[in-house]
Amino acid sequence: MRVTCTVNGQRCEADGVWPGESLLYMLRERLGLPGSKNACEQGECGSCTVYLDGVAVCACLVAAGQAEGRRIGTVEGLTGEDGLHPIQDAFLEAGAVQCGFCTPGLIVAVHDLLARDPAPSEPDIREALAGNLCRCTGYEQILDAVRLATSRVASGRGTP
Ligand code: FES
Ligand code: FES
Repeated sequence: MRVTCTVNGQRCEADGVWPGESLLYMLRERLGLPGSKNACEQGECGSCTVYLDGVAVCACLVAAGQAEGRRIGTVEGLTGEDGLHPIQDAFLEAGAVQCGFCTPGLIVAVHDLLARDPAPSEPDIREALAGNLCRCTGYEQILDAVRLATSRVASGRGTP
């Protein structure tokens, strides 16, 4: 079947989508957007986090057909014409990227958090990222990155 949706502000059509196919597969394999990662394919790790009509979801748990007529936002869409998003910069500066497999999902999750709450408390940050697993960093650098991104948003140097 054909799925027509808007991805990162652009109208997209994916042909040949089969009924059991996930949104993650469609994004990566049909629409050329490999930023969202496939680590568990079971909704456990958060590495495939994308926006679906403005709500952060695990793309591996969404059927591609459910995207018909809807708005998808991926990590690729956060990078602007003038470079990386401040959250992406913060992850790099804080050393929160090692193998990088968890990073795209975390960045979307942090983006979602700061859009809802520009000054999250430490428990709020931990709770918001509880569904995003990282096997490399021990999480401290990730928390540092979120604090850095939060301070930049607070000082007006980044708009989630
Ligand atoms: S790949 Fe979707 S949650 Fe792990
Ligand atoms: S940086 Fe490797 S899983 Fe997080």
